[in-house]
Amino acid sequence: MNTGVAIWFTGYSGAGKTTIAQALHFFFLEQHIRAEILDGDSLRDSFSKDLSFTRQDRETQGLRVGFITELLVKHGIFVIVSTISPYRNIRDMMRARIPRFFEVYIKCPLDECEKRDVKGLYKRVRSGDIKNFTGIDAIYEEPLNPDIICYTQTESVSDSVDKILSVLQAAGLLDETVAFPYGSNSDRSS
Ligand code: ADX
Repeated sequence: MNTGVAIWFTGYSGAGKTTIAQALHFFFLEQHIRAEILDGDSLRDSFSKDLSFTRQDRETQGLRVGFITELLVKHGIFVIVSTISPYRNIRDMMRARIPRFFEVYIKCPLDECEKRDVKGLYKRVRSGDIKNFTGIDAIYEEPLNPDIICYTQTESVSDSVDKILSVLQAAGLLDETVAFPYGSNSDRSS
């Protein structure tokens, strides 16, 4: 069985969390590593349907997600948490609680996220349809010391995936001989 890990993303809506999470997940499954994505949007469609976007409810979301993550990690799963996770206190709490926890800052300037507006939400925020939106009228606390930063305005998805895999490999959590999906470690001798 694998040793479980928590790969805890944080970043604005539209920064690229879901895209990177899916590419990473695909790689793990190809390697027969048991992995799961906990995605903000799909969680909020199901078991967090009762939660809004107030500070209190976002903290509750973080605590719930952390609870599931801890259980899955204990059972050897590679867990990719793909939520905005805007608060340092919750992320720090999870780092202290969950073994093999990697905080990954999916970093993209807010104006670029707004330009992409993949889900059309920023437009709705600007028209006054949505309140308490992260980065606009709700706080986002940048990580002070993340394990990994993926700069999605300048890096490709493959750069970001390989970066995350390198850190896991350096921590002894991925087989040394595993070739990364995009080949950035293919010149390393094993
Ligand atoms: S978190 O802040 O509690 O971590 P979470 O990741 O679960 O957020 O949900 C964020 C997703 O909800 C966004 O990707 C977006 O699609 C949607 N959303 C709807 N309203 C808001 C809002 N006010 N602020 C941020 N995201 C929102």
